[in-house]
Amino acid sequence: MTERLVIRRPDDWHLHLRDGAMLKAVLPETARHFARAIVMPNLVPPVVTGAEAGAYRDRILAALPDGMTFEPLMTLYLTEETDPEDVAVAHASGLVKAVKLYPAGATTNSASGVRDFTKVRPVLERMAEIGLPLCTHGEVTSADVDIFDREAVFIDTVLDPLRRDIPELRVIMEHITTSQAADYVREAPAGLGATITTHHLAINRNHLLVGGIRPHYYCLPVAKRASHQQALRKAATSGDPRFFLGTDSAPHVDAAKETGCGCAGCFTATNTMAILAHVFEEESALDKLEAFAALNGPAFYRLPVNNGTLVLERRTTEYPVKIETPDGPVTVFDPGFTPAWHVASVSAE
Ligand code: DOR
Ligand code: ZN
Repeated sequence: MTERLVIRRPDDWHLHLRDGAMLKAVLPETARHFARAIVMPNLVPPVVTGAEAGAYRDRILAALPDGMTFEPLMTLYLTEETDPEDVAVAHASGLVKAVKLYPAGATTNSASGVRDFTKVRPVLERMAEIGLPLCTHGEVTSADVDIFDREAVFIDTVLDPLRRDIPELRVIMEHITTSQAADYVREAPAGLGATITTHHLAINRNHLLVGGIRPHYYCLPVAKRASHQQALRKAATSGDPRFFLGTDSAPHVDAAKETGCGCAGCFTATNTMAILAHVFEEESALDKLEAFAALNGPAFYRLPVNNGTLVLERRTTEYPVKIETPDGPVTVFDPGFTPAWHVASVSAE
C-alpha cells in the first residue's frame, strides 16, 4: 500500500477569494497548499476592467500572510459593455489569464453577465486572436429549463454554437457536473478543457437532499445524480489532460447558507487535497492525482508547472470544521468520510 505521495505543488483553476475581511480569512486556506489560483471576478461590483483586476490583485497580495507564497491569476468578468482593447491590454501585460462568462442570473453575483451573445462577439474574437481563454459558467438560466438540465442545455444551445462560431477561442467549461459535459469535452477537438470541483467528486444530489436538506452541499451547478458523479470521477482520474482541478471553493458565512434562501457555494479550500487523495485512491488512481491537480491545468493555460512539491501521507487529520471570519463562521466542506490522507508538507521551491 502506498503510504506517501509526492506531487508537484498544485494549482486551483477556479477559486472565489472574495474581498476585505473574508479575503483575509480564506486566502491562507488556499495559499497553504496551492501555488496559484484562477481568481473569480464575481465581486460586488464585479471585476470588469484591467484596472479593476490590477487593484484586486494588489488587495489579494496585501492580504497574504508573511512567509506564504501564492500567485493570484486574475480574470475579468465579461459584460455586454466589455471593451476588447482593455481586455487585450490586460492580457498583454501578463495580468489577466482568462475572461469569465456568466450567463446573466446563473449564480451568485451574476446579474451583470451576458444576455445577448452578439454583444460580446467582438471581445470573444479578440480573445481568440490573442490566445486568451474564456472560462464559462456552463448553465442556461431560462426559467423553463429544469435546474438539473441547465448544464446539458447550455452545451447544446450556447457552448457548441459558440465554439462552432469562433473555433479558435480556447474555452474552459468550469465545474462540470454531468456525464454529458465530460463526454462533450472528451470528444471535442483541442481548445476545450474542463475543471472539476472537489465537492462534485465527493457528493451527489442524495447527499444534498436525503434525510434533510444540507445547505453546505448546495452549490451551482447543483450536484447531480450518482451516475454523473461517477462520470466525473472517471474523467478526473483518467489522466486525460483536458480535465483539471478547479475547486470552486466559495465561502459564504453560515448565516447566509443556513437560512430560508441560502447562497450557493461549498468551501473546500482547507481540505481539498486530502479529499482528492482519498477519492483518487478509491478509484485506484493515486498515480493520476498529480496530473489532475498540478500538470493538466498549467498545460491548458500555457503556464509552467510549479517547482515546489506537496507531500501527502496516509494518516487521518482533524481539519477545522469552521473558519472564523469577522463576518461570522464559514463551514468547511464535510466530504462525508474521513480522508485517509493528509498534507504532510509543502515546499515552495
Ligand atoms: O456554488 C457556487 N458559488 N457556484 C458559483 O458559480 C458561484 C459561487 C459563489 O460565488 O458563491
Ligand atoms: Zn465559481
